[in-house]
Amino acid sequence: MAVSIKSGREIELMRESCKRLEYVHNKLGEIIKPGISTYEINRIGDRLIREQEGIPNFLNYEGYPASICVSVNDEVVHGIPKKERLLEEGDIVSLDAGLIYKGYHSDAARTYTVGRVSPEVGQLVEITRQSFFEGIKYAREGCHLYDISNAIADFIEGYGYGIVEDLVGHGIGTKLHEDPQIPNFRQKKKGIMLKAGMTLAIEPMINLGTAAVEWLEDDWTVVTEDGLPSAHYENTILITKGDPEILTLGNWD
Ligand code: MF3
Ligand code: CO
Repeated sequence: MAVSIKSGREIELMRESCKRLEYVHNKLGEIIKPGISTYEINRIGDRLIREQEGIPNFLNYEGYPASICVSVNDEVVHGIPKKERLLEEGDIVSLDAGLIYKGYHSDAARTYTVGRVSPEVGQLVEITRQSFFEGIKYAREGCHLYDISNAIADFIEGYGYGIVEDLVGHGIGTKLHEDPQIPNFRQKKKGIMLKAGMTLAIEPMINLGTAAVEWLEDDWTVVTEDGLPSAHYENTILITKGDPEILTLGNWD
């Protein structure tokens, strides 16, 4: 396993790519409301990425047919946008988006509530987001990779949610998926030592019910086996000599 260490110049390009993706996500967050189709969300997202001089990295990735993954309720990730799929009050929707800017990839996901949702579903969304921040407490030079995984797992287990094991986070840079893989569930080993200059996409996928997932006939959409909702939250981060930098959050002014 070869984990790339980005140079100063590469880090600047990662920052720029990620900042542009943050802008796309912020704009997409504003259009989430009952009645919008998942197709329209993708259409607007694709346009925003291109306006930012980005190339949508998900489009045609291993045949994936859209620029934004739009996953509703029991859809965990990789939902395919559809004209006939309209968001309804009480739904939750996960938007996963990425772009390439000057050869460097960014990747981030947010889960939104549509109108008012039940308290238990609202909590799932919020705890999934918080688990990312629990994890990155260990995203520091000198920590081990699986310190991140175990911190996410510890936090989520306290709520009894199911942690998806079939999909994981990943290194990112000149490719969307680089080494290492970053599980969100408990690990017995320590994993590699983290070093300044690593860029990682950390992305807990958390189910209200059990961890079990399955793939739909479209070969993309991952759904929960029990049909209960699932939430996803992801940022691209940079390991530094000090606190981690969250490259896809808080940098758009
Ligand atoms: N955030 C997802 C991932 O890291 C995005 C990939 S979706 C695909 O795997 F369409 F590109 F496959
Ligand atoms: Co990712």
